Amino acid sequence: MARFVNKPSTIADAFTEPRWPPRRYHYYYVRGKLASDPLYPGVVAALRGCDAPLLDLGCGIGLLAHALRADGQALRYAGVDFDAGKIAVAKAAADRAKLAGVAFATCDLLRERPSHRGSVALLDVLQYLPGEAQERVLDDAIAMLEPGSRLVVRSGLHDDNARGRTTRMVDRLANAIGWMRSGPLCYPKQEWFERKLANAGLAADFRPLHGRTPFNNWLIVATR
Ligand SMILES: C[S@@+](CC[C@H](N)C(=O)[O-])C[C@H]1O[C@@H](n2cnc3c(N)ncnc32)[C@H](O)[C@@H]1O
Repeated sequence: MARFVNKPSTIADAFTEPRWPPRRYHYYYVRGKLASDPLYPGVVAALRGCDAPLLDLGCGIGLLAHALRADGQALRYAGVDFDAGKIAVAKAAADRAKLAGVAFATCDLLRERPSHRGSVALLDVLQYLPGEAQERVLDDAIAMLEPGSRLVVRSGLHDDNARGRTTRMVDRLANAIGWMRSGPLCYPKQEWFERKLANAGLAADFRPLHGRTPFNNWLIVATR
């Protein structure tokens, strides 16, 4: 289990805006996310032992950077997202926490991907891209991998079971309340990942990563 699970309030503190009265919206979001979702323990465990620089595509408010540092991982981290508001929150929180070797930038994955060599994270992002863009983003992420680096994906998978339906419903709700700028478009299938990763000569591991949440979330780790 990742060490940072013992530090949820320290991480969340960095997301409190130091104004009076303090704005605690992101603080409570981060506390809730770290308490309920096994995403970050799963991802930091998947990256442990790998020093390659990491590009986090669709990084949101940059929580993964905090989780990695709290776990003692010093790898270089760059996060991009098309939501400028989230990138501003990510930069401010990383500055408050004095995270070293961390950078954030806005980038619309539908139009471009940053140039990068090393590991790549794609966490809960693919479902917001149309099918052909999912192909391009995954192909480009695979092309960024260097020997020994890792591709770490968390994604809901296309499934017509209760978990699949709950995932779709909650992703639509996140868009309706304004947390997500766009709604989910399509969920990739496991066979699609398997085919693309095998065609690229990558060894891949698939495992459920939903913990006690009702979602159909999977962790996919591929190594070059
Ligand atoms: C569910 S959030 C996940 C955030 C982060 N990866 C995490 O796991 O905490 C999905 C993220 O994908 C971003 N996103 C959606 N479409 C995008 C696009 N076309 N380009 C860049 N980012 C995008 C959203 O702004 C949002 O921050």
